[in-house]
Amino acid sequence: MTAELDPRPEALPQRVWDSVQRDQLPPVDDRDRMRLVMNNLVLHIHPSKVSKPTLRFTYTWGLGGLSLLLIAILAGTGVLLMFAYTPSPDQAYSDMLALQSTVWYGQLLRNLHHWSGNLLVVVTFLHLLRVFFTGGFRTPREFNWVLGVAMLLLVVAANFTGYLLPWDQLAYWAVTVGSSLMSYVPLVGEPLRNFLLGGPEVSGATLTNFYGLHVAIIPLTLLGIASFHIWRVRKDTLSIPHNVDGSLPEPNTKVTTVPHLVSREFVFALVMTGLILMWSVWVNAPLEEAANPDHSPNPAKAAWYFMGLQELLLHFHPTFGAIVIPVLALVALALIPYQRFDLSAEGIWFRSRRGRQMAVVAVIAGLVLTPALVLLDEYWLDLPELLPSLPTIIANGWVPLAALLLGLLGFYEIMRRAFRATACETRQSLFILLVVGFVVLTVIGVAFRGEGMALMWPWEVLS
Ligand code: HEM
Repeated sequence: MTAELDPRPEALPQRVWDSVQRDQLPPVDDRDRMRLVMNNLVLHIHPSKVSKPTLRFTYTWGLGGLSLLLIAILAGTGVLLMFAYTPSPDQAYSDMLALQSTVWYGQLLRNLHHWSGNLLVVVTFLHLLRVFFTGGFRTPREFNWVLGVAMLLLVVAANFTGYLLPWDQLAYWAVTVGSSLMSYVPLVGEPLRNFLLGGPEVSGATLTNFYGLHVAIIPLTLLGIASFHIWRVRKDTLSIPHNVDGSLPEPNTKVTTVPHLVSREFVFALVMTGLILMWSVWVNAPLEEAANPDHSPNPAKAAWYFMGLQELLLHFHPTFGAIVIPVLALVALALIPYQRFDLSAEGIWFRSRRGRQMAVVAVIAGLVLTPALVLLDEYWLDLPELLPSLPTIIANGWVPLAALLLGLLGFYEIMRRAFRATACETRQSLFILLVVGFVVLTVIGVAFRGEGMALMWPWEVLS
């Protein structure tokens, strides 16, 4: 009797790779295609074929995928950290010290978690900018943009709740300052803050609440929304990049996701993981002395991603700086895709040649005007003193807000006329002005505010 020959390939790497996928037969008809998709894990996340131009790295910069990678690193390192951490004021700080000294690779684990969390805020924000500037939010992707805004908020919330867990001075006071912003919400602000903190101030109950939010509620919500987001990207397909003249950078042919897209994602994920690992080996996550509720540092600053808001608070009445302006900005951000847009500009970075020139002007305007206004308000302009008959909420709230909105309207009109631009291009330049303004406020808050929150040079802040 002759032995039946195994029809599979001889080479071991090929056999290992083949064994990863359940179904290797090429599809011959629609039913076959469905079977192929059902039997392949990758094709549950990606479509089976993608448009070749979308593979260009300089279109997406891999930012959505990098956000996912960071979430995966955070989940992995977070679960391991849970083995070495107890969320109680007596134990939390000593657990941090033990992580640095006695737990095997504890410091590296903490560094990886800390830096990945901070990087996720930056990368998610950059991904939002990429989607905005390439018009990736247009029909049918409007709702995916809204989901994205929700995820950005969750990412910030995850960072904020995690900030408290080391229970050092930095954590205690940053959360005290950050949560005090809530008190400015009329009527519900104070009860809401008490509910979140588990009392009137940051305490052991806050640590328990934040721990629950940080390790369970926020990650699970983020996971749910992220799955929905990725499923929508798969169903809506990625927007297709175009040159500035509207032509395609290369013929819009379809290629199979495996290996064309998956191999690129794999290499990118490997390189990024390597870089994050290297950074975490060299740079330790900060840890100050143990939290001391009786000794507030000067200045007491919020976490860096809230410093733009804290800076706003120095210039506006708290209700406006902490609530009205941020809420208006968030609603406007979420509604961006529901405006009328020039559909032909989809997939073109900054929409047009003119859009690019306007973007440069808007960046310069933001870089000049924001510090100028901060200096004006800090040293020369005192609205409550100038308008003594008005209550401060009007003199320092409604009046500067109205002035700001008028200024933005003026900028819009000047840009539209000077460049003979479309509404779409002009709105884009307004968005850029606001984004640059917010980033500059954050930098001023982080690097140029020292003792008593006075303006000073960064080296004086550090000294
Ligand atoms: C944790 C946060 C996020 C994750 C994990 C994530 C993930 C992804 C991935 C993997 C893609 C496809 C590839 C790419 O563009 O890189 C994508 C596309 C997209 N994302 Fe996100 N995203 C996040 C946040 C956001 C935010 C903040 C927004 C906007 C507010 C957003 C809106 C979109 C839209 C509209 C698309 C489709 C873009 C197009 O077709 O060009 N996402 N996202």
